[in-house]
Amino acid sequence: MCGIIGATGPIPVAKILIEGLERLEYRGYDSAGVALVVEGGIWRTRAAVSTVSMKSLADAVVNAPKVLDAGVGHTRWATHGAPNERNAHPHSDCTGKVAIVHNGIIENHAILSSRLIEDGHNLASDTDSEVIAHLVEENLRDGSSLTQAVLNTLKVIEGTYAIAAVRSDEPGTVVAARNVSPLIVGVSEGASYVASDIPAILGRAEKYFSVADGQVVTLKGENLQVDVVGEAPGELMPLEVSWDLDMAQKGGYESFMLKEIDEEPRAIADTLRMRGIEAIEMFDELNLDPAVLRQIDKIFLVACGTSFHAAMVAKYAFEHWCKIPVELDIASEFRYRDPVVDGKTLVIGVSQSGETIDTLQALREARRLGSHAIAVANVVDSSMTREADGVLYTRAGPEIGVAATKTFVAQVAILEAFALSLAELRNTLYKSETELLMNELLTIPLKVERAIARASEYRSVAKEIGDSKDFFFLGRHVGYPTALEGALKLKEISYLHAEGFAAGELKHGPIALIDSSSVVIGVATRGRLWSKVLSNLEEVRARGARVVVVANEDDTQTAHFGDYVFKVPSTHELFAPLIDIIPLQFLAYDLALQHGNDVDRPRNLAKTVTVE
Ligand code: AGP
Repeated sequence: MCGIIGATGPIPVAKILIEGLERLEYRGYDSAGVALVVEGGIWRTRAAVSTVSMKSLADAVVNAPKVLDAGVGHTRWATHGAPNERNAHPHSDCTGKVAIVHNGIIENHAILSSRLIEDGHNLASDTDSEVIAHLVEENLRDGSSLTQAVLNTLKVIEGTYAIAAVRSDEPGTVVAARNVSPLIVGVSEGASYVASDIPAILGRAEKYFSVADGQVVTLKGENLQVDVVGEAPGELMPLEVSWDLDMAQKGGYESFMLKEIDEEPRAIADTLRMRGIEAIEMFDELNLDPAVLRQIDKIFLVACGTSFHAAMVAKYAFEHWCKIPVELDIASEFRYRDPVVDGKTLVIGVSQSGETIDTLQALREARRLGSHAIAVANVVDSSMTREADGVLYTRAGPEIGVAATKTFVAQVAILEAFALSLAELRNTLYKSETELLMNELLTIPLKVERAIARASEYRSVAKEIGDSKDFFFLGRHVGYPTALEGALKLKEISYLHAEGFAAGELKHGPIALIDSSSVVIGVATRGRLWSKVLSNLEEVRARGARVVVVANEDDTQTAHFGDYVFKVPSTHELFAPLIDIIPLQFLAYDLALQHGNDVDRPRNLAKTVTVE
């Protein structure tokens, strides 16, 4: 995925684009660039971010000629073409009078570029996106406006896109269009903006709108004109944005990841809204009749990465409290394995971004097969929220760090709150039981805060074990997804070898890997399998591994089973992942710093993956 931005009006366009790109870097940082409409043409600057930082892009922009009230910018996560300057957006046409930025994939780009080259166009990059600039160039030849040329271009391109285009002959104008890839528009007095995501223009716009598939928006100062392709609606949909600027900025923290770990108590509290047990009807956007929910006889949870681990925790909760069989699927596998779903199946897609293509496709497949489909998402009006029957929103605020932290706990919290309400609705728990559990869930923000207050303890353990190259995370029951998530965090940002295992499975093979150079992190907070986890830890200690135990702070026994201990507050065992993950996030964070890595921008990763 990539991030795009455009701005128009008598405003400091170049500065706004650069700041917006900085806030969009979580969507990709292989390269970045801006194009500005200036006297006599388009002025472009581009940089491969690994070699030239965003700062030098900002320095270059200072020397740009006077900007004529319009420009576009792009930050890239490479799909077609190496991550170098040549392939960086904005792309231009042969005349140099048009510049475009694109997020998505133009599926028929190979046919289009062969045809364009035959017709004498000079394509300067290896990207799929550049064809758009040349097609717009062709469509302008009959005297069409930029808007009309974009509309005609969309008739021949196939694939997914969010596009923004500028033209030197139309100063003060940006034309944007969308198909599948996210796009929003913001307006303030005298100016308007377009971007892939809200954080890019937070604090600038006063009103926000979501652009629908098939809409082409022409932005000129504060004026918006909407044209459509096919059946698209003729009006933009207003967006209610509750995020503020502070949420999208580091606010004095050394990284977004650290800030977002610190925000976890609030992310959980806001997600639960601290309202106590909610009847199903109180989940505002769920949109499913309680009668339907009573009839559900199977749940599928589909997700990727960290969201998959949150879904895995939820499987234990749904089965235990609601007595409904739950299948758990990696989203990219779901639709290729002939899942058996019907009108009594509830498919829940779990996703921070609401845009991950694998999860989105799984939800589409679920609906096509006739099941009910809901999305758990953090981004309002993201694709999944629009395509699913209903939504359970996490209210974690924007998550910019590529490694998911606060959204993991928010996802677990909302899924568990939903499981409790469902259990009450289906009479698998007494109201008094759900109330007790919900009251405990509502104490979690404070307990997470207490865990975060121990950060310096966790970080000093990280120093002790930082010399190891192999990390094994073990857990059982809900400690298993916690272990998987701990390992994922570590490998994502420290690039060290880390694996998570169901602790009982180790003896069936992976234990062969353990030796005195290994570090084993055991999730050993009190739960039904606590003593079995301890036995599994003894097995690895006997083979020389250094062991770190995650143990409850009031537990005097467990610490003896490890060389080091991460103490955490205790809670009901099904809520434990919300707290136990905290030291593992700090561990990953510290080891990444020890290795000199950029924790917010780990290599090869993008925050949201919109390609299969
Ligand atoms: C999390 O740290 C990762 N960056 C990644 O695994 C992520 O969770 C996954 O790509 C799913 O994203 P989503 O939640 O936006 O769908």
